[in-house]
Amino acid sequence: MRWSEASDSSKSAFHRKKITVVGAGHVGATAAFLAAQKELANIVMIDVMDGVPQGKALDMFESSPIQGFDALVHGTQDYAETADSDLVIITAGIARKPGMSRDDLLNINVKIVSEVTRSIVKYSPNCIILVVTNPLDAMVYTALKVSGFPKQRVIGMAGVLDSARMRAFIAQELQVSIENVAACVLGGHGDTMVPVPRYSTVAGIPITELMGAERVALICERTAKGGAEIVELLKTGSAFYAPGASVVQMAEAIIRDKKRILPCAAYLEGEYGVDGYYMGVPCKLGRDGVEAIIEMNLSDGEAAALHQSMLAVKELVKKVDAFGHF
Ligand code: LAC
Repeated sequence: MRWSEASDSSKSAFHRKKITVVGAGHVGATAAFLAAQKELANIVMIDVMDGVPQGKALDMFESSPIQGFDALVHGTQDYAETADSDLVIITAGIARKPGMSRDDLLNINVKIVSEVTRSIVKYSPNCIILVVTNPLDAMVYTALKVSGFPKQRVIGMAGVLDSARMRAFIAQELQVSIENVAACVLGGHGDTMVPVPRYSTVAGIPITELMGAERVALICERTAKGGAEIVELLKTGSAFYAPGASVVQMAEAIIRDKKRILPCAAYLEGEYGVDGYYMGVPCKLGRDGVEAIIEMNLSDGEAAALHQSMLAVKELVKKVDAFGHF
């Protein structure tokens, strides 16, 4: 039997959507693998480490016959190959070691994120950018300023991860299915993040009605320190399975235009009393990126905690502005 190419190749693998993942480290590779398995798009993974994105991408692609996904996965050092991406996930940068805060990474990562953003924008002027690199709220601000993109198209991943951690801890504490658990975490992705138990529920019931105040407080504290807990265990780096899964959930909401409500770092201009900073708030994610920001009523205590978190983000952003990379 002979094979003749159909003239309409619009259904070929090469006409799928395209996602670029910048950084082929643990987070980038995990995100690329999960996105490919969900058949969200063809994936390009780019990294400065010669051969690493190529090797990991080829390895992932070779798993496709077994896992049964139709997506091309390709690794490169050349930004030209990222051209016309629909979505770009930026994970490039250094990760924390034990004893470091996310903020200690700022000086190095602001340069990396600036350079990466410039190259991405050159080849994919219409893409949506999801930033994962820490310190998150400052790095996504950097990407916004360098790209010159509208704020809807530059989004930070933090709240999905932080609330996933909180959901996991709630499910474990109450011995219920993770499927019944929703959690709400607002604010910056740092030590000042704001878990909101009142809006964290099991089958619609706030957890404040299902466990004592001390248990709630412990879960909130473990959530806020969730990243550090993993760093202390791993010793050589930070979390990647949950961060990779989190950014892919956001990518899926955008690529499939799902209009999901997910907590994201969004650029606020007046919402929650914040002006000119990224903070974690509930957003509607669809094909245009952040299609709406949902403002919920906060108690005085919650609002005060969010304000504290904003002050921490503001300090970081001051340092980013001082670099003047844009
Ligand atoms: C964490 C890092 C990725 O929270 O910020 O694990």
